[in-house]
Amino acid sequence: MSERSVPKAVPRIVHVGFYCRDVKRSVAWYEDVLGMHVHFSVPNRAYAMGFNGGKEDHDIFLVQAPTTYAEPTPMHFDYETLEATKGRIGFYHVAIDFQSFDAAMEAYGRALARSSELAKGVQHGDGRGIYVRDPDGNLVELFSFNGCIDDADAKRLATPYPGSEGRGGGFAMDVAATYRKWKAEKKSPVAV
Ligand SMILES: [Fe+2]
Repeated sequence: MSERSVPKAVPRIVHVGFYCRDVKRSVAWYEDVLGMHVHFSVPNRAYAMGFNGGKEDHDIFLVQAPTTYAEPTPMHFDYETLEATKGRIGFYHVAIDFQSFDAAMEAYGRALARSSELAKGVQHGDGRGIYVRDPDGNLVELFSFNGCIDDADAKRLATPYPGSEGRGGGFAMDVAATYRKWKAEKKSPVAV
């Protein structure tokens, strides 16, 4: 066998891990807002969270932090310019691809229902990202790509949302206005 025919091992990220002030509160948030499931756990200490009904590997590992651990420093942004106004070196955010704009908006609605703070919204060139804080202030990006979506989503994504007109990719998204518009469209769906 030549060296060329040996399959190359390609590393991949298996999961990310967070220490939590109150791990059970965090588990409830990841279950409710993101729709994750507990893959396995050490009760009250560590919870492996996955998206696939616990059938496959986990994506996020939540661990109870000792009380001696330092408080996190949440990052803040100017909502319009997206410039960071407060932050720290290191972890920035984890992005979840919801596979559809509707699903990302529904997740945002669940985050709102839990009073999760919105950090910023970004109209990326390739999709839309809504950055909310988990119970410890970690940023979770509720993302939907352009393209991997159904016809109704395609129509919505082709329509400029307030604040996005004529500005190209990578700019601030008026999340509140977008959510209001999305909810109104859900009540009277756009023709596709
Ligand atoms: Fe991102």
